[in-house]
Amino acid sequence: MATYKIAVLPGDGIGQEVIPEALKILQVVGKGAGVGFEFEQGLVGGAAIDETGDPLPEATFRLCEASRAILFGAVGGPKWEDAPHERRPERGLLRLRKELDLFANLRPAKCFPMLVDASPLRRSVVEGTDLMVIRELTGGLYFGEPRGVERMADGSAHAVNTMAYTSREIERVARVAFDVARKRRKRLASVDKANVLVVSQLWREVVTRVGQDYPDVELEHVLVDNCAMALVARPTRFDTIVTENTFGDILSDEAAILAGSMGMLPSASLGGRTALYEPVHGTAPDIAGKGIANPIAAILSVAMLLRYSLDMAGDAERVETAVLRVLEKGYRTADIRQDGTSPVGTGEMGDLIARELSALYS
Ligand code: IPM
Ligand code: MN
Repeated sequence: MATYKIAVLPGDGIGQEVIPEALKILQVVGKGAGVGFEFEQGLVGGAAIDETGDPLPEATFRLCEASRAILFGAVGGPKWEDAPHERRPERGLLRLRKELDLFANLRPAKCFPMLVDASPLRRSVVEGTDLMVIRELTGGLYFGEPRGVERMADGSAHAVNTMAYTSREIERVARVAFDVARKRRKRLASVDKANVLVVSQLWREVVTRVGQDYPDVELEHVLVDNCAMALVARPTRFDTIVTENTFGDILSDEAAILAGSMGMLPSASLGGRTALYEPVHGTAPDIAGKGIANPIAAILSVAMLLRYSLDMAGDAERVETAVLRVLEKGYRTADIRQDGTSPVGTGEMGDLIARELSALYS
């Protein structure tokens, strides 16, 4: 029996609550598909700072490197907000992305038919939305040099971050995006700010050049401000979107609203040898510890893990089907709940999906 070692990094806040539900699902898949999973937990983020002083302890990094895939929860929270820059929980995740070279972040945002009314946007706008946002994840403002803050004797200060990209960094994420678009509806929107930023001019130039290798994919260039507007005005005009790190961070949160809730969005970070899978929602300090968080984003991240790291597309589809069936039956967590229905908690939603999934294997 094939056995896969999975690094499990729940992190902080609701990461601690949704990851156990994702593991329930993987266990059902293991049984049904006849593969073994070896789960090994690692500390990351605030939880790791509290224990070791470091948001990405060496032991966690080694565990990730030695694993077939990484299942990640979320990091951050009010407790660590005042920590110095290098000691913030977020640094743990950023270092992991950089050191594992996870440059392509896939964030699908789909409006499921039964959740059309969960979005604060009108049905006529969100219905039929099916997007894939591909965010460059190891460059741009997040990592560019120089960066830092300089404090003067007179009390004034100067801070700088740099948006920097090499043509190589742009090209490799563009290729991932074209490959993904090719398997979807063959439409790619490259998002930039080429009317102002030289980095974006290079971005546009390189993406256009890469596009010559993909004549079957229709490429358009969209300015980021215009894209932000179009996403909530007419999201169905987009299929696959590719953009740099910061723009992708912002636009993917916006896209979450089209799917009804942040609690629905999975992600995959690819590029290096070991890929990382995480729900997009973050730690949600406002609801953490209450057992009401939506585990679906984490569970759909498991589906992405099966598809991209283990080549188990059929099992990935089963997981997605199980999620849809539970939603079709009317079960909702609080974030996607409909008027007049009482919401189920995190564990109950996980159990319902696990049960549905078992049935799909029998
Ligand atoms: C995300 C998050 C992270 C980011 C934070 C937690 C560092 O917002 O994955 O979108 O900004 O990339
Ligand atoms: Mn974000």
